[in-house]
Amino acid sequence: MTYHPVCDLDDIWEGEAVEFEVAGHDILVVHHIGGEVAALQALCPHQDISLAEGSFENGVLTCRAHLWQFDSRSGDGLNPSDCRLARYPVRVRDGKVLVSVDGIAPFRVGA
Ligand code: FES
Repeated sequence: MTYHPVCDLDDIWEGEAVEFEVAGHDILVVHHIGGEVAALQALCPHQDISLAEGSFENGVLTCRAHLWQFDSRSGDGLNPSDCRLARYPVRVRDGKVLVSVDGIAPFRVGA
């Protein structure tokens, strides 16, 4: 499994979610309060709006367009619950965030 360097962890405040392009994938790196990091698909599975433009509070990502909500750790759909965000393997090494995209495709409604 190949891990791609994405950014320094210090580039993202705790409580912030930032979009990056990683090997052709749009990835949202989520830095939770307390330090936990997740990497999720960055585009909403409804209509491809960037989730970085929405809100991130208390472990919930909310899309700005139609307010769909997702768990910021698992990527599971909260509202509606029959969708999800793809979750990518992520590591933090020597202060760098590394993400693998091997074999993972973003989820799309109706795809
Ligand atoms: S585009 Fe995200 S909820 Fe519609």
